[in-house]
Amino acid sequence: MLNERLNWRYATKKMDPSKTVPQDKLDRILEAVRLAPTSSGLQPFEVIVVKNAAIREKLKEAGFGQTQITDSTAVLVFAAWDNYTDARIDGVLALTEKVRGGASETLTGYYDRLKASYVPRDADTNFEHAARQAYIGLGLAMTAAAFEEVDATPMEGFDPAQFDEILGLRARGLKTVAILPVGYRAEEGDWLKGAPKVRRPMNEFVTVVE
Ligand SMILES: Cc1cc2nc3c(=O)[nH]c(=O)nc-3n(C[C@H](O)[C@H](O)[C@H](O)COP(=O)(O)O)c2cc1C
Repeated sequence: MLNERLNWRYATKKMDPSKTVPQDKLDRILEAVRLAPTSSGLQPFEVIVVKNAAIREKLKEAGFGQTQITDSTAVLVFAAWDNYTDARIDGVLALTEKVRGGASETLTGYYDRLKASYVPRDADTNFEHAARQAYIGLGLAMTAAAFEEVDATPMEGFDPAQFDEILGLRARGLKTVAILPVGYRAEEGDWLKGAPKVRRPMNEFVTVVE
């Protein structure tokens, strides 16, 4: 059951650097992120998979020393588009036409309206919208990792500007939103391992309107 896996997962505080996530598991986690639905199908984010040890040392410094950044097998960096542009939205239209075959006036009209409403907005508004889509990917990555019995720690506790600098993201029109080290929990030394989940009860969380 999926919910059993979701109870098993936790924001791992200490990972075991001697254990490595097999590439096929990593690939399936990334495929789940690629399959994430996004608003208008824009997929306005990318994932940078950082395995390089020296770069991860630098990222750890920019991540307030959080050891999962270096003790994991890889750090998935979710980086959103810094803005919407005509070219980016046209790229989505072109891909849709390629995959589904041919141009259609309905489709072109839809993306024309999207460009007219998104492109004139300020870059921050567009980045925030793109970042929300990246979080859908983050959610699916955490779920897929749990399904694969891979540990993962969602993180916002880092300096995004430094991450962008270290990974050269601004030149690619990307800004770091959140990161997810994936690896395996350490047997010893993780104060959170085995702790019960802290969640509000269902009746305080869900309102049913009938
Ligand atoms: C977007 C996001 C950012 C987070 N940032 C950090 C972080 O920087 N470091 C950390 O150790 N945990 C971080 N967490 C973990 C949360 O504290 C944790 O998910 C939450 O308390 C629920 O616990 P659980 O994930 O163990 O079920 C973050 C979680 C999310 C979803």
